Amino acid sequence: MGTIRFGIVGLGRLGRIHAQNIAVNVPGSELVAACSVLPEELEYAKKEWGMIETYSSYEEMVASPNIDAVAIVSPSGFHLEHIQLALQAGLHVFCEKPIGLDVEKIRETIEVIQAHQKQVFFLGFMRRYDESYQYAKKVVESGEIGDLTVIRCYGIDPASGMEDFVRFAASSDSGGIFADMSIHDIDLVRWFTGSEVKKVWALGNNIAYPQLDAVGELETGVAMLELENKVIALLVAGRNAAHGYHVETELMGTKGTISLAHHPEKNLVTLFNQHGIVRPTSQNFPERFKQAFIDEMKEFVACIQEKRQPEVSANDGLASTIVANACALSWERGELIVLG
Ligand code: NAI
Repeated sequence: MGTIRFGIVGLGRLGRIHAQNIAVNVPGSELVAACSVLPEELEYAKKEWGMIETYSSYEEMVASPNIDAVAIVSPSGFHLEHIQLALQAGLHVFCEKPIGLDVEKIRETIEVIQAHQKQVFFLGFMRRYDESYQYAKKVVESGEIGDLTVIRCYGIDPASGMEDFVRFAASSDSGGIFADMSIHDIDLVRWFTGSEVKKVWALGNNIAYPQLDAVGELETGVAMLELENKVIALLVAGRNAAHGYHVETELMGTKGTISLAHHPEKNLVTLFNQHGIVRPTSQNFPERFKQAFIDEMKEFVACIQEKRQPEVSANDGLASTIVANACALSWERGELIVLG
């Protein structure tokens, strides 16, 4: 197959990044259609990428004879419906995390994915494509730090986005902090250990922004997990990091430890000034994972061209949502949840 012609649904914070990558940064891909419920976003798309096709109806976009693949970057509550419609229309599918929020509907969607095995299904857990995470995975696999014992993960959004989050929390369909934020770390823990989560205990609070109580959202969610191979994981998710975008992972093993972005540095620059010795931090996900977003889309295109499925599967999506939902349940009930 030659150039892969894309339609994209969702042109919000992340949709615009994927659209730009497809249009400009990923060889072998072309952006030919976009769908959004907001007319101003479609105007933006035409202006930015000179696209010929814009749609307010997703069903109409996937019926276009001019596209081979869709990138689904709509709110999380729409992913499963959008995956099914695209596959039934004969398209390859790239879908943002989480695969979906409802476990039964994910199972139903996996049946649709399995019935369309000639089409590629790709789930956007982009950290798996980040250079540092790939390096850490190789070190773990080499046995250099021995057997894993404890994994500690921080995934905290910058406080600068908090006012917007409070404003839109009531109308957003994120699935809550565990399905929206911790899901990345749940996937990493499964990826690094090759093991499944057995027990979950989660807590949460709203201290800086108590108004989030009214919309059932959390500013901080902390989960402790036990895996089948006895590894313990501590996941801290948040929306209020004063210093920027804090994504950090620590992998402790019987013979050593890997610390990944303990200080979430922007680059290699250190400033010496009146404030002391200052290390600038990355400020948001587009900055921190710029290359990973490009590399995962390159891999999606390569999978289509080489007629193969990617390493990350729909079942990985199912497993991570099951754990995220168990975290939410544990927090709501104040109980340890044992997964069956
Ligand atoms: P957003 O709220 O900024 O954008 C959502 C977009 O979807 C908007 O363009 C909106 O007009 C469009 N939309 C809403 N309902 C629609 C419908 N029924 N049909 C078609 N379009 C519709 O959301 P954001 O932050 O861009 O997130 C989108 C997805 O990307 C989410 O699933 C989120 O979990 C994921 N995401 C992943 C990140 C990562 O690190 N991999 C980072 C940020 C978001």
